Amino acid sequence: MIKFDDSQFEDIIPTAILTAYPRTFSNITYSKQIFEGIRTYYETIDENLIVDRLAVELEARSKLIDRLLAETGSTQIIEFASGFSSRGIAMAEFNPDIQYVEIDLPKMADVKRKVLGNITSIPHNLHIVGGNALRKADFDKVCDYFDADEQVTIVNEGLLRYLTFDEKAIVAKNIRTILEKFGGVWISGDGGTKAFRNNQNKAMPEINTTILHKTGRNTIGNAFESQDHFKKFFGELGFSVEFHSYTEIQDELTSPKALGLTQDEVRDKLLAYASAMVFRLKKA
Ligand SMILES: C[S@@+](CC[C@H](N)C(=O)[O-])C[C@H]1O[C@@H](n2cnc3c(N)ncnc32)[C@H](O)[C@@H]1O
Repeated sequence: MIKFDDSQFEDIIPTAILTAYPRTFSNITYSKQIFEGIRTYYETIDENLIVDRLAVELEARSKLIDRLLAETGSTQIIEFASGFSSRGIAMAEFNPDIQYVEIDLPKMADVKRKVLGNITSIPHNLHIVGGNALRKADFDKVCDYFDADEQVTIVNEGLLRYLTFDEKAIVAKNIRTILEKFGGVWISGDGGTKAFRNNQNKAMPEINTTILHKTGRNTIGNAFESQDHFKKFFGELGFSVEFHSYTEIQDELTSPKALGLTQDEVRDKLLAYASAMVFRLKKA
């Protein structure tokens, strides 16, 4: 049994800035306003967290998850490790029948509420909750927002890569208990293998070293070897895994033009080997 508390994960919080900035090159709703809000909130931002070339990967990740989430038709959503993502506010404003719950560490959730609250009024159907994805009770407590007869879709972008394999397994088990209760699927943007990390290192040589120094978390050491490794690991935890390459959404990206990148560069240097995943509970 792994013992943990929130403080062990708080060094990961700055990566929410690393992923919020590149979205300003895209047309993702509220991205620019949120980043202005981040700049206002923090007196200084480490310049190593400002990486333009991440824009393509992060726009693709966000839009591919949006598409997979739309395909579920789900109106009950949990997004954990939500950081400064604008998906929750955009979806909750667009559809008042949705219940959208974000879970992130309490220190991050507090900043998110402030930054978002300065941009727009937070609607009644968006709940920004302080919690830890490794703590089952933190998932259980948000179930009160949901109708027991409706399925729940669980979403995340970009936490698994920071976690050790033991930590990933704890998160997966927590998700499994929610899906066993409500039905539904888990959609994750975090399907990059070691091949993806190696490719990313070629395009952005500093990125994984910066992350290691900032967070103390080794994204290369914590990466899956291959898609088969993903399938075996999560298969043993009761899930089947469906992969969707980030290139599936390449046609909808706006950041390549903003950065002056060719479609070949985008496909081969920035999106190759990256996948989103849809996890379903295996039938007993
Ligand atoms: C790379 S950021 C991704 C943020 C957002 N999903 C995005 O794509 O912009 C990682 C996020 O994981 C959050 N986080 C770290 N450890 C966590 C934990 N144990 N439980 C929940 N969230 C956590 C951080 O606070 C941060 O917001």
